[in-house]
Amino acid sequence: MKLLIVGAGGREHALAWKLAQSPLVSGIVAAPGNPGIAAIGRCVNVAADDAAGLAALAARETIDLVVVGPEGALAAGLADRLATLGIPCFGPTQAAAQLESSKAFTKDFCVRHGIPTADFKVFDDAIHAKAYLGTREPPFVIKADGLAAGKGVVIAETRREADEAVDQILFLRKFGTAGQRIVIEDFLPGEEASLFALCDGETAVFMGAAQDHKRAFDGDKGPNTGGMGAYSPAPVVTDAVIADAMERIFLPTVRGMAADGAPFRGVLFAGVMVTAEGSKLIEFNTRFGDPECQTLLRRLDADLLPVLHAAATGTLSSAAPLVFDPRPAVTVVLAAQGYPEAPLTGSIIRGLPEAAAHEGVEIFHAGTRRDEDGMLRAAGGRVLNVTAVGDDLAGAIARAYAAVDAIDWPGGFCRRDIGWRAL
Ligand code: AMP
Ligand code: GLY
Repeated sequence: MKLLIVGAGGREHALAWKLAQSPLVSGIVAAPGNPGIAAIGRCVNVAADDAAGLAALAARETIDLVVVGPEGALAAGLADRLATLGIPCFGPTQAAAQLESSKAFTKDFCVRHGIPTADFKVFDDAIHAKAYLGTREPPFVIKADGLAAGKGVVIAETRREADEAVDQILFLRKFGTAGQRIVIEDFLPGEEASLFALCDGETAVFMGAAQDHKRAFDGDKGPNTGGMGAYSPAPVVTDAVIADAMERIFLPTVRGMAADGAPFRGVLFAGVMVTAEGSKLIEFNTRFGDPECQTLLRRLDADLLPVLHAAATGTLSSAAPLVFDPRPAVTVVLAAQGYPEAPLTGSIIRGLPEAAAHEGVEIFHAGTRRDEDGMLRAAGGRVLNVTAVGDDLAGAIARAYAAVDAIDWPGGFCRRDIGWRAL
């Protein structure tokens, strides 16, 4: 099979790395890809959210399966376009991608299908939103409805902050049209985890759990980011938590989407709060997490291609089960100085081959570019991912940081405490 991988980050490099190991793969094209992926497949300069351009590329290249990394192309209808061309797509249609692209859609869906989530209300005007805040207890959770790159959520400790967030989103359009509507929901105490399930429109298969670190700096300080590191498995996600999440979140979602006429194919990523009364859904994403994906795929002890193809073509129930290396894996994200507000790009990165030679370590490119002078330079906010597997979590962490320290990149930084909460 000839594959098209859509995206340019560490998640897509990890997908390419894992899929390239499959004996069933004859070639990999990536759009737009990155210098890490370029060592595995051919990169074509089509933007990751250009649904029309990507569909045309898939047709031109006679692609057998399109694997979509980021949400943009899904929300723009890439899977719908590929369906009309008869090209299987690992990733949901535009209608099914609303599970990520609209929080209001998802909350209503949860109510209709009995999926546990925080109590909420949806508003498009500030007066009613603030009146509702007056009836709730702090902390207040205020979310922009649409896609806001993980930044559209405000947790406000006081009424004043909450009112301000409402004004910022609804009046001042801090998140643009993504903030035309807001969701106000109750705060859920508990421990957070990311759970993944492959879905084929009818059924779902659990694909592992991870914990992410969203804040930029050690000790969960600083601004929110796309994710500064992850580890898997997540100790809080016991077998009982998995069974409960399949029973009360994933399976009802796949069945509910099918019943509503928008079957979900691809990977469903549930951000859940593990509470005393079982798991509650915080949000869905309709794609793999980044960097959770790198950590999960490092542990996958099976050919990834057949299961992605089965999910894309509605045949998951007859696919081989997913087998995971029981050993833990951890991913440390190296970001450019200034990330997330204003990452400084262009700084030179050296020492990757030496770092990648460390035992148990894989290095994925996230935001790099290779210039004509042959130099590798920072070209984004999150720039490199160092993923390591170890006999135990402490061992995986030690290996990851030993490799991080072998990278010569003064223009970058990373958190030094990835995974330490689980130790
Ligand atoms: P989201 O983009 O919906 O995942 O929200 C971003 C982050 O805000 C989550 O990862 C949680 O840490 C936090 N969060 C969102 N909703 C809630 C909630 N209802 N209760 C507590 N924390 C929340
Ligand atoms: N790391 C969180 C995300 O991919 O949304």
